[in-house]
Amino acid sequence: RYNGRINVAIDGPAGAGKSTVARKVAESLGYIYVDTGAMYRAVTLAANRSGIEPHESDRLKELVESIHIRLKPGVEGQTVLLNGEDVTQAIRTRDVTLRVSQVASHEAVRTRLVDIQRELAALKGIVMDGRDIGTQVLPQAELKVFLVASVQVRALRRYQELNENERIPLNQLEEEIAQRDHSDENREISPLTCAKDAVVLDSTELTIDQVVALILDLSRTKLAEA
Ligand code: DC
Repeated sequence: RYNGRINVAIDGPAGAGKSTVARKVAESLGYIYVDTGAMYRAVTLAANRSGIEPHESDRLKELVESIHIRLKPGVEGQTVLLNGEDVTQAIRTRDVTLRVSQVASHEAVRTRLVDIQRELAALKGIVMDGRDIGTQVLPQAELKVFLVASVQVRALRRYQELNENERIPLNQLEEEIAQRDHSDENREISPLTCAKDAVVLDSTELTIDQVVALILDLSRTKLAEA
């Protein structure tokens, strides 16, 4: 018998399986899943549409303060709204993926999105995935997981997700993932780091369901303590 609700923070590099795992964990617990990467992607899409380059700090600041980003949880998964428009698909293009890391490195962008993320988590019962959730956004989260996997496995998983007209050589994907890791880990503000009190899970040789089961076990332990 569990009383109360907890917040679960899931961080880790691109392609480690965070979003699939986080969505399933949220579903099992009856919690709301918050994909923070989608918010950075929505800002990047808005920037692309306004002709703003990822290095234009001032214009990005103005942009992020004037747009409206909302995540709407649903049975079929989360819907991402940019100024009321459904951009759930549009934020997944390569064009956005290749620019998002640089857009996410600006302080003004992070400050604005972190505010929204903390608001969403205030009621508890949230599973949030990203890069800085356990360290910056929700340092008080009851459960923190740092999900890792080898570059090779992450590239292979991405490769298998691509459809026919998107075919990219596997080694190019490996290179892009390694490069994104590098910029996410080395940016000045809120770099991707493992919180001291996070549980590190290596999913290289585990299935999604095995990872989910491990996190649910950890959640139940935390819930029993809460
Ligand atoms: O998880 P994703 O691939 O959708 O994330 C897209 C980018 O957004 C990623 O390259 C880094 C950035 N990001 C971030 O800086 N902080 C977060 N909490 C989530 C994502």
